[in-house]
Amino acid sequence: MQGMDTARAIKALLDWQAELGADTALGDLPVDRYAAPPPAKPAPAADKAPAAARMDDDPVALAEAMAAAATDLDSLRAAMDAFDRCELKHGARTLVFSDGVAGARVMILGEAPGRDEDMQGKPFVGRAGQLLDRMLAPIGLSRTAPDTGAAVYISNLIPWRPPQNRKPTAQEMAMMAPFARRHLAIADPDIVVLMGNTACEGLLGRSGITRLRGQWTELAGRPCLPMLHPAYLLRNPAAKRETWADLLSLRARLHPEGTSP
Ligand code: URA
Repeated sequence: MQGMDTARAIKALLDWQAELGADTALGDLPVDRYAAPPPAKPAPAADKAPAAARMDDDPVALAEAMAAAATDLDSLRAAMDAFDRCELKHGARTLVFSDGVAGARVMILGEAPGRDEDMQGKPFVGRAGQLLDRMLAPIGLSRTAPDTGAAVYISNLIPWRPPQNRKPTAQEMAMMAPFARRHLAIADPDIVVLMGNTACEGLLGRSGITRLRGQWTELAGRPCLPMLHPAYLLRNPAAKRETWADLLSLRARLHPEGTSP
């Protein structure tokens, strides 16, 4: 009888946590975050060089310095992994870096990983990602194409899943944008596609995706096309019409001579 009560109490506790949004196990063993307080941050040394002192209290400056020091995709991933000023890192299971073909002519940047991406360590693998694949196929693009002309390279502004898929804060976007910009510079695509409002906000400093979508602009010296996020299309299927127009515009930019894939 007592065993039954215990089982019921455990189930009630689990249900309660799931309702709060703790729907993913991050490790096999629980972590008691009250047991070991983090070591106190040492006060900045009086003789610290001004730039180093500035980076201590400015996570964006630190992110810029760490991103700038990365010379290739591996060192960029390592730099992002080492960056510990973004709270999202501590609630996520994995750093979601990229998928697709490095060197592809098109790079797609989304917002942030969701649950499926956090589990698999790859961007755009959930329902929205599957729709993205279905959107790209008719214009001859895919994340698995061996030819860089027909391939896409995919990443996100934010590499860690925000709790309950909430929108990243302005501060989180500001501190991760230097890494996303460096990612873009190293991947060096001909064209960048920004998926959704948050990617536009974080990287173009503009929002209002229903106005921005389909309007070619520039990001870090490259042609950039803002588009509606596939997750938005799942909720608003009627907007697929606009997205089809944007996909045709993307195809025309890639093949100006009408040399279709
Ligand atoms: N939405 C995004 O913006 N990125 C992902 O990786 C998945 C969903």
